[in-house]
Amino acid sequence: MRKITVIGTGYVGLVSGAGISDFGHHVTCADIVESKIKLLQEGKIPIYEPGLDELVDRNVSAGRLSFTTKVDEAIQQADVIFIAVGTPQGENGEANISAVEAVARSIGKNLNGYKVICTKSTVPIGTGDRVCELVRETMPEGGEFDYVSNPEFLREGSAVKDFLWPDRVVIGASSDKAFDILRDVYRPLYVNEKPMVHTNVATAEMIKYAANAFLALKISYINEVANLCEAVGADVHLVAKAMGQDGRISPKFLHPGPGFGGSCFPKDTHAIAALSRKKGVPMNTIDAAIITNNDQKKRMTEKLKNLVGGDFSRKTIGVLGLAFKPNTDDVRESSSIEMIQTILDGGGKVKAYDPMANESMKKVFPNLNYSHSWEETCDDVDAVAIMTEWNEFRGMSLEKLKKIMKAPIVLDTRNILSIDKLSEHGFQFDNVGRKKYYDS
Ligand code: UGA
Repeated sequence: MRKITVIGTGYVGLVSGAGISDFGHHVTCADIVESKIKLLQEGKIPIYEPGLDELVDRNVSAGRLSFTTKVDEAIQQADVIFIAVGTPQGENGEANISAVEAVARSIGKNLNGYKVICTKSTVPIGTGDRVCELVRETMPEGGEFDYVSNPEFLREGSAVKDFLWPDRVVIGASSDKAFDILRDVYRPLYVNEKPMVHTNVATAEMIKYAANAFLALKISYINEVANLCEAVGADVHLVAKAMGQDGRISPKFLHPGPGFGGSCFPKDTHAIAALSRKKGVPMNTIDAAIITNNDQKKRMTEKLKNLVGGDFSRKTIGVLGLAFKPNTDDVRESSSIEMIQTILDGGGKVKAYDPMANESMKKVFPNLNYSHSWEETCDDVDAVAIMTEWNEFRGMSLEKLKKIMKAPIVLDTRNILSIDKLSEHGFQFDNVGRKKYYDS
């Protein structure tokens, strides 16, 4: 059993901390935000993530997981320290690593014996060197440490599963000793023969950006294919399905939609693009993926505008789904934000509903009319825009939907409704890359 401290209790820190304690280690999650730690100490989880509450409960009850604001003490008592603080987008698209730097200084000051310092936050390539430099500058004489980059690949909404059953664990270690310690932290996965990819620090940092940027690129690609499908009368679902049956392509991340959002892809594509500019090594594909994504969000607003006759004024639109993806309450960079803003700017009104994210969206749009069910949202509206593919929306009765709406007009940006059924029920509709039907 190792003594581990995880600094930062956001998605990555909290899920990793709880997951590592589930592997049998003694984990302290530390954060300077008192309100968050207070909630966690009371047994409440500050984010919505399926399965996280059980994972936390189980390990707190077993005495393996605790929470503290005493970051210095937590560093002193640990063998391995994970840095999992935020790296928001800064100027020029580059990630802002000031929180990582602050943590590095704290670790240096509290370095009482040999420790492994491990970064989980998504950080620009070269950050490992900077962390080591800051630790060396601030540590007491005789301090000893090794550095590891251990990027995380979990997705919001399935973070617990992704952490406990990853495809691989990337360990970019500055020494064999540090690699062995990290492998021991992930022992249950290693025993189950999950690949442990041993690299140097810069390679591990690069793997994270390259993987996220590639997934974003894949989404932008299928979104452009979908748009072309619309122009030539092809169905993108069948195109994506047949493409995905080629093992070299894979069906994953080939779902067209309203453009990717969240706290990772938008930020990480900008960060790798900024890095490529800085290094003078163009990444034209990533620049294009970013442009396509912005255009896709705009394209959705144009589609809705066309569906309602070219003008939002005096129209009330029901927006179903506010989170950037299902099973999360996170609305960061969600396509629904641009959609709502465009409707409001055009003089329209919005009734909005998300099964989990109403409260988060209230911070962006405090004055919208928020509903508590799809029925309440769609009642007496001129059109409905489906922005997130929650199961609740897949199961909507089209008969009932038509009955309660002022006019049966639907924009399905996630392609979750059957176009045959929409036609049968007499809806006017549009989607992404499939047959549309409306009076233009
Ligand atoms: C993403 C990566 O998938 C994780 O591997 C990574 O660890 C994480 O970023 C991170 O860097 O922390 P996440 O942003 O939580 O995870 O969610 P995704 O499931 O990747 O979805 C991102 C966006 O892409 C969503 O808006 C989603 O709707 C969209 N998307 C995804 C599509 O439009 N089509 C797809 O086929 C897949």
